[in-house]
Amino acid sequence: MNVVMPSLSQALSDAAAEVEQALDALLPMAEGDEARLFESMRYSAMGGGKRMRAFLVLEAARQFNVSRTSALRVACAMEMIHAYSLVHDDLPAMDNDDLRRGKPTNHKAFDEATAILAGDSLQCHAFTVLAEEDTHPDPAVRIELVRIISRASGPRGMCGGQMLDMMAEQATAPLDEAAIGRLQTLKTGKLIEVSADAGAVLGKAGLAQRHALVSYARDLGAAFQIADDILDATVSAEEMGKATGKDAGAGKATLVGLLGLERARLQAERLVAQAKAHLDGFGDRADMLRALADYTIARRH
Ligand code: IPE
Ligand code: IPE
Ligand code: MG
Ligand code: MG
Ligand code: MG
Repeated sequence: MNVVMPSLSQALSDAAAEVEQALDALLPMAEGDEARLFESMRYSAMGGGKRMRAFLVLEAARQFNVSRTSALRVACAMEMIHAYSLVHDDLPAMDNDDLRRGKPTNHKAFDEATAILAGDSLQCHAFTVLAEEDTHPDPAVRIELVRIISRASGPRGMCGGQMLDMMAEQATAPLDEAAIGRLQTLKTGKLIEVSADAGAVLGKAGLAQRHALVSYARDLGAAFQIADDILDATVSAEEMGKATGKDAGAGKATLVGLLGLERARLQAERLVAQAKAHLDGFGDRADMLRALADYTIARRH
């Protein structure tokens, strides 16, 4: 055990503070007649969240000595896209939730039209940030970032998974394990996977290392969504900062629903062990990523 390494919780909260500051600088200030839109974007992108996707970018980038400025810009872009996905996920047409990160959801604090536009704008702004020269001096790196992150967010990624999630609510027969796995890989896994990959791309990592990090994050992402589903069934809304106990009633396709809590937990543990095994070729510098895998299923919110 490396005693000089700060604890994961310290590292996560330090990263969250850095990301908060960077988001403040990157997000437009509320001004002009459309100030309400900027205010609504800042409302959902700032002031909360575990910043796990940002942390993955930063830690993956750290393996390859990427400059902090570059890594933080990409970390912020991922958090903007994640925040957009949550704003839209909470809308009445989707999960219809009133509480997010311990405060009213965007459409409750503003209104539905503003929430839709704030989500759209957060997504667009993320790609503006990625494409700007400050993100990386090499345009080929910036294009690769835009390519992988747009793919992970779109129909072959988060949006595709959200579509499957919505369709599963209406399905007449419950989804089997493989179908749930695919749904979760898309809706949650892809953004987590690409966060690690983006750090590797920034560092111009070789294919083998890039592949190892992506494989790690794929298993981590799968475990992460199972943990979210377990928390929905077991933890209070107060602790989670969002509504809980809703998945079963809403007819959500989850492994908890299909296998029960205990088997879902075992599956998540197996995925975490598998995630860490993909980091075997990395040294001590990847210890935070290993600790993050354990935290993914140990967390209480
Ligand atoms: C919530 O993600 C949505 C899921 C994919 C389960 P997080 O649990 O990472 O949400 P924040 O960013 O910490 O609020
Ligand atoms: C959402 O999954 C995943 C997204 C793509 C936003 P959930 O619907 O389970 O996330 P929570 O529980 O509302 O955070
Ligand atoms: Mg949802
Ligand atoms: Mg939801
Ligand atoms: Mg959930």
